[in-house]
Amino acid sequence: MSPFGGWGMLTAFLVLLCCRGSGVKAFQGPEHLMVGSGEFQLINCTASCTDPKKLVLETHLNKTLLESQAQWKLFKVANISKDEKLLCSFTCGGRQETKVFNITVFYPPKQVLLTLWPTSVAAGTLFTIECRVPAVAPLEGLTVTLLRGTEILYNHTFVGTAPSPQDAMVSHNTTAHREDGHHNFSCEAQMDLRSHGGGVVHRVSDPQRLEVKEPEPNTQMVIIIAVLIVLLLVFVTFVFLCFVFSQKWHRGRTENSMDRGAWRAAVHGGCKESDMTEHRHSESEGPPAGQERLLEQTWKETPTKFAEKAGPCLLPGPWSR
Ligand SMILES: *[C@@H]1O[C@H](CO)[C@@H](O)[C@H](O)[C@H]1NC(C)=O
Ligand SMILES: *[C@@H]1O[C@H](CO)[C@@H](O)[C@H](O)[C@H]1NC(C)=O
Ligand SMILES: *[C@@H]1O[C@H](CO)[C@@H](O)[C@H](O)[C@H]1NC(C)=O
Ligand SMILES: *[C@@H]1O[C@H](CO)[C@@H](O)[C@H](O)[C@H]1NC(C)=O
Ligand SMILES: *[C@@H]1O[C@H](CO)[C@@H](O)[C@H](O)[C@H]1NC(C)=O
Ligand SMILES: *[C@@H]1O[C@H](CO)[C@@H](O)[C@H](O)[C@H]1NC(C)=O
Ligand SMILES: *[C@@H]1O[C@H](CO)[C@@H](O)[C@H](O)[C@H]1NC(C)=O
Repeated sequence: MSPFGGWGMLTAFLVLLCCRGSGVKAFQGPEHLMVGSGEFQLINCTASCTDPKKLVLETHLNKTLLESQAQWKLFKVANISKDEKLLCSFTCGGRQETKVFNITVFYPPKQVLLTLWPTSVAAGTLFTIECRVPAVAPLEGLTVTLLRGTEILYNHTFVGTAPSPQDAMVSHNTTAHREDGHHNFSCEAQMDLRSHGGGVVHRVSDPQRLEVKEPEPNTQMVIIIAVLIVLLLVFVTFVFLCFVFSQKWHRGRTENSMDRGAWRAAVHGGCKESDMTEHRHSESEGPPAGQERLLEQTWKETPTKFAEKAGPCLLPGPWSR
């Protein structure tokens, strides 16, 4: 504590005692000041009269007298880390007067940290822009703006008061465009202290680049398409094979019936399928003698072979019993 401050405080105390009830104390309303945490504040102690006595600034904080004139003294109060009330006192015409400086400490945005994730994205896909402003207070009136080049992508103004400094966080999801790779992304924090009697504090993050890749084909889609192509090929092959086999089978059948025709011609003198009706009509007459003998012989060998050999010309008749 400076001897200055102690003496001033004692004077103020004495003056308050002596002047109590006199009702002549000229008291100006407090002046509100916003000071960044740990920073200094210049205090201009100005008396209401031109020839003040004992012009002092009362504070327990470290202070330096920078400049002095008859009516005012300019002090630098250093390292202000919490809310303070500074008292500027002087005597004018034998009357003690005070002026209060109400100092509110704020935590300005000292760092603005911008993160893009992922840092490398395919055009047309989502990516996240995140901006963090550590240890700020008051949060109220803080605006965090996300920029692409000079274009505002997103902004957010915080509301509500927090007694202690805290991190302000803003996150925004957006789609990557091809041209995004040619711009710098940045984040700007703006602390507006005008409603608290302060100014506006700005801070911008380091620029960040986004790597935009050509859109990758969706692997799931690729698999589905591949499976569909394979299925289509299998189907086409199946249809083709069916066609080939049916052709083959048809030809085989024609050849077979031609064989049978030849056999029938041998045994029967030409029994065609179209002759069957004729045979049906001539059932009761029984097969010709030569054929009957051959059929009987085959029947003895094996019934299937018999059926094969007989072909469609073999029809149940009274002769086969
Ligand atoms: C201090 O305040 C007085 C009165 O307002 C003014 O005349 C003077 O120039 C100020 N001093 C400084 C250093 O600003
Ligand atoms: C005031 O400043 C001096 C040196 O400049 C330092 O040693 C002292 O700790 C400071 N006091 C306060 C209360 O900050
Ligand atoms: C500022 O104040 C803090 C605590 O109030 C103290 O720890 C620090 O040493 C001070 N710094 C200076 C330069 O006086
Ligand atoms: C000083 O400012 C603080 C915060 O802004 C407020 O709570 C307090 O009432 C003020 N004091 C005076 C005397 O105006
Ligand atoms: C926030 O963005 C809107 C448009 O999106 C704009 O009108 C407004 O001025 C911006 N606010 C700040 C503080 O940049
Ligand atoms: C952005 O997307 C992520 C998932 O990718 C999600 O967790 C997050 O909540 C989204 N953020 C916003 C602000 O929509
Ligand atoms: C992006 O930022 C880098 C580094 O600060 C700078 O060199 C470059 O010129 C910027 N590009 C654009 C398009 O602003």
